[in-house]
Parts: sequence; C-alpha cells; structure tokens
Amino acid sequence: MSGRVETTREHGMLQTGERTAAGTSVETGMIAMILQKPDDAAERRLALDLLARAGVEATDASEEILRIGQTGARCEAVPRPGEVRSILAAMPTGSCRAVVVSPSLRLFEGPWTDRLLRQAAAAVAPGGRLVTGFQPDRVSAARGWPSRGFVEGVLGPAADSVAIDRVRALVHAPERGGPSASAAGPPTVLGFAFDALDELVAAFAGDDGGGDAPRGSTRTADADAFVSALNYSVVGAAYKAALLDRIIDHHRPGAATGGAAGSRSRLGGLRGVFGRGGLRWLTGGGAPAPERGTPRLRILDLGGGPALTLAELMLRRGDVASGVCVDPSPTNRDLVGHLVRWLESGPEPAQQVASRLAFDLATMEAPSGDGEVDVVSLIGSLLYVPREHTDAVLQRAWDRLSPGGLLVVHENLRDPAYVVDYDQMFTGEELEARLARLEPADRSFWLSSGTARIPAGEVGRQTVFRVLVKPS
Ligand SMILES: C[S@@+](CC[C@H](N)C(=O)[O-])C[C@H]1O[C@@H](n2cnc3c(N)ncnc32)[C@H](O)[C@@H]1O
Repeated sequence: MSGRVETTREHGMLQTGERTAAGTSVETGMIAMILQKPDDAAERRLALDLLARAGVEATDASEEILRIGQTGARCEAVPRPGEVRSILAAMPTGSCRAVVVSPSLRLFEGPWTDRLLRQAAAAVAPGGRLVTGFQPDRVSAARGWPSRGFVEGVLGPAADSVAIDRVRALVHAPERGGPSASAAGPPTVLGFAFDALDELVAAFAGDDGGGDAPRGSTRTADADAFVSALNYSVVGAAYKAALLDRIIDHHRPGAATGGAAGSRSRLGGLRGVFGRGGLRWLTGGGAPAPERGTPRLRILDLGGGPALTLAELMLRRGDVASGVCVDPSPTNRDLVGHLVRWLESGPEPAQQVASRLAFDLATMEAPSGDGEVDVVSLIGSLLYVPREHTDAVLQRAWDRLSPGGLLVVHENLRDPAYVVDYDQMFTGEELEARLARLEPADRSFWLSSGTARIPAGEVGRQTVFRVLVKPS
C-alpha cells in the first residue's frame, strides 16, 4: 500500500480511496459478503481477513456489511447494509466498495458460478475490490470446485492474490479492465432467478394450493417461504447439475447404443469454453454456440421439482435431446412455464433447452410417458412415494433405461437431526436393499459435497449419489 489518495469519482457513498497493490480502492460504502452460512461468525471472520489482505478494512460489527446467502427474506430493490439478503436477489450495479465471495461457498465450475461471479463483479463500485476464493488445480480437478483458471476465465486476470494459511483468494479490481458487467455470460438457472425473482414472487406468493400440495413440495402461502424454497432449488441446481454432468461423463450412458455421451465432443461442450483462458464467447457480446455432439441423451427426472437441476444440466451439456421432469406439483409446473419462457427469450443454447425440456404433471407412480431413456434421476424424491409402491417405481424406472443406462438416486438418510420427513426417510440399509434387487451391472457412489467418486466401502452414512448401471 502506498498512502491514501483522493479519488475524483463521485459514486453514491464513495468518496475517498486508498492505493493498494491492486490499485486504488474506495474506503467507504457497502461491503457485500456472499456466504455459505451468513450466521457463521468464523466464515465471516475469514472473509473479513481476506478482505483486509486485499486492502479493505472492516469489522464484523460494521453497519456497512451486507450478508448474502441462503435466506427466505424478501429483498427490497435497494439493499440495506446490515440485512441478510437472498443470493437470488440481483444487486444494483456498482454499489459496493468491496464484494467477497466466501471460500466456504459451495461452488462448482460451470455456468452457475460464472453467473454468480459476474453478478458479484457488477456490484463492485469503480475503485472497489472483488475477492474470490479459489482452489489449487489438483483439488479443482478432483472435486469440481473453482480453480484460479476458471475464476480468471470469467473475471479476467486478477490484480492480486492473497492467502491465509491454505485458503487462497484472487483480488480483482473491476475498473482495471476486469469483468464486464454487461456480458451476461452463459445461460444458467441462476440468471433466471436474477431476472425473474420479482415476477415469480408476484406470481406464486399467497398461493397455498388449498392445502393439497404433494408431500415434499414447496407450495406455500408465505412469500418468504417461497423465496426460501426457490433459493434451495436454485442453489442446489448448481451442485446437482455439476455432479450429474460428471457422473454421465464417467459412465457414458447411451454409448453402448451409439448415442448420447458417446457422441459428445467433451472439449467442445460448455466446460471447454470455461477452461483456462477460455473466455471466448463470454466476453464477445454475441454468443456463438459451442461445438457440440449430436444431442441424443434422454433424461428422466422423477420428482424433479421445478426442473431447475434438469435445466441446468441441459444448459451445461448441450447433448441432451430430451429432458422430462415428472412432478405432481402444479406450482412446479407453473414455475417451469416461467423458466421455459425465460429460456426461449435467451441465446440459442437456452432456446434449444427450452424446446427439449418437458414437464409431466404426475406422480412417479403413474408418469404419462413410457419410452426408453438413458438416465433416470431421483433426487430427494423417492422418499415421498408410499412404501408399498417404492419397488414398483424403481423397477419401472429401471425397465425404461437403455442398455448401459444410469439410475441415479440421492436420498438424505434417516437421522434424528432431520425433523421434517423423518418417518419417510430411508435408512442406508433399506435403500441399498431395494436398489440391489435391480441387479445392476455396475455401481458407483459420489459425494454430494464435490464431484468426487468414493469407494463403496467408504459410503457408510454419508449422503451420496448412488449410481446403478444397467447391463448392456
Ligand atoms: C425435496 S423436493 C426435490 C426436488 C428436486 N428433485 C431437487 O433435487 O431439487 C421433492 C419433490 O418430490 C415431489 N414429489 C412428492 N411426491 C411425489 C411423487 N409421488 N412422485 C413424484 N414426485 C413427487 C415434490 O413435488 C417435490 O417437488
């Protein structure tokens, strides 16, 4: 640092600045902290320490701190310092002297995180700082968490990097030719939430479905509860889609029948464009479609909620010919209607997803379709099927799979820590016994905290994605 200087810029509350290694920084104004757990003091402490290393001084008690995370609180158009704000609420451009993306935030390389970083960068005032955690390359490759190359691929070269013990973060000074707030980046369900949150709250708040909503659905008369449920779905879509993407690549369903992932050009897919130095269509204004293999993969998501995970997966890949979400909730059907309209108004990759995404208003006990598919996913939904139908549901899903197809099941296992749905939850033993009856050719298990595969012997009581491969 080399002494305080007066800035010439008048930008809201911003008046003065300080010259740091990364250039001139403003010293008054709001500080936004995007956090995994906004109530976790240790996480906030780390974020503040990283900010301090980047030349931005603040204390946890500061009035100027705006916490952003998973909350159901409705958000006013203009953020108020001191509030805890939903991660789904778009922030006014250029309003913060600093934004820190917590290294604890559960982020995965892909369009979702790309959009979040752009949103964060756009919130930084000229002269301000954006501090973003990143992972060493080997951790990133194993877990799917953002690497330095990914972050710089989105935001441009960092002005600085800082570290506390083994936690590392990049410092961007957006005014120095960093990220462009105007470039929206690739389409993602997070962008949908940013664009449509107000419209969705207006459309869905106050609608409790007359008390006959399906178990596990999010229909509610309460607007805050609606935002909270949407928050869960949008944030969850990021890691669920990243994990499904990796699982599909690992097992290559459809390859045995000459379709699906077997024909996908891996580097030509979206991740190829995100990779190190890969800023090709993200900054260019226009968005030339990445090269893709023939779209043949057919995916069926049973109890797929508002289809945000399915849509995110389809946006990530580009080789999904059809994605069908089966869910009995009319609210979810209506949400998907909003999502599809948003996709239709987007760039070509989004329009393609809109035309290939379908919603089946049905229970998984009685879906309307019966054609062959390459992947069937059940994410947090099988528990809601009455037990007398569970085996039949699994068998029907299995029968619909193409040779080499994948059945992907994710369930939180029964635990006293869960108050809601405790009675419906599976024990690990019960779930495994029901899945074993299908006699898969292969099995794999994937941690939901990253995109890493783990050996069967290490699963224990962990929450994992369970994958069954149908014999070819
Ligand atoms: C916890 S949500 C999970 C949604 C989505 N799979 C996800 O991961 O975000 C459970 C979903 O199961 C749906 N559901 C409940 N009973 C169902 C049934 N019998 N058949 C299909 N879906 C059902 C609910 O409407 C709800 O959308």
